[in-house]
Amino acid sequence: TLTQAEKAAVVTIWAKVATQADAIGAESLERLFFSYPQTKTYFPHFDLSQGSAQLRGHGSKVMSAIGEAVKNIEDIRGALAKLSELHAYILRVDPVNFKLLSHCILCSVAARYPSDFTPEVHAAWDKFLSSVSSVLTEKYR
Ligand code: HEM
Repeated sequence: TLTQAEKAAVVTIWAKVATQADAIGAESLERLFFSYPQTKTYFPHFDLSQGSAQLRGHGSKVMSAIGEAVKNIEDIRGALAKLSELHAYILRVDPVNFKLLSHCILCSVAARYPSDFTPEVHAAWDKFLSSVSSVLTEKYR
């Protein structure tokens, strides 16, 4: 669980990220599919070329879910309950992929806000994404 200071750091960096959430979401997915091409197998029905409408649309959805988690940072599990069921029971995404996407989101945020991305913010944002991933993978068995 995140400390009060970590929660505060997440809320602060999110205030910036939220203003460019769609671009950051698309960039994170581009990084995911480019660096870890095996992740593309979950999206056979998508046009995954750089800047495609589907890629941007999906990046936007992913970032709004993260925004919901920030807004409900005291109850991330409750906020993402439906998404957790979707990823576990319907999509069956292997949990390792959540680490890869989290890493790509981390990089996209760091690249865009280098001076805000202090070691403390890095650590808090990493821990937060890891909590989100735990919630989204906890229904697996
Ligand atoms: C769908 C969020 C990780 C694969 C979705 C949706 C959201 C979302 C909001 C749309 C749900 C809807 O339309 O009702 C997230 C978040 C993640 C995450 C916040 C972690 C931070 C992953 C990972 C993969 C993945 C790691 C696989 C590499 C998918 C797929 C869909 C989906 C295949 C369905 C796409 C479609 O057909 O429209 N996710 N996701 N997700 N997600 Fe995730």
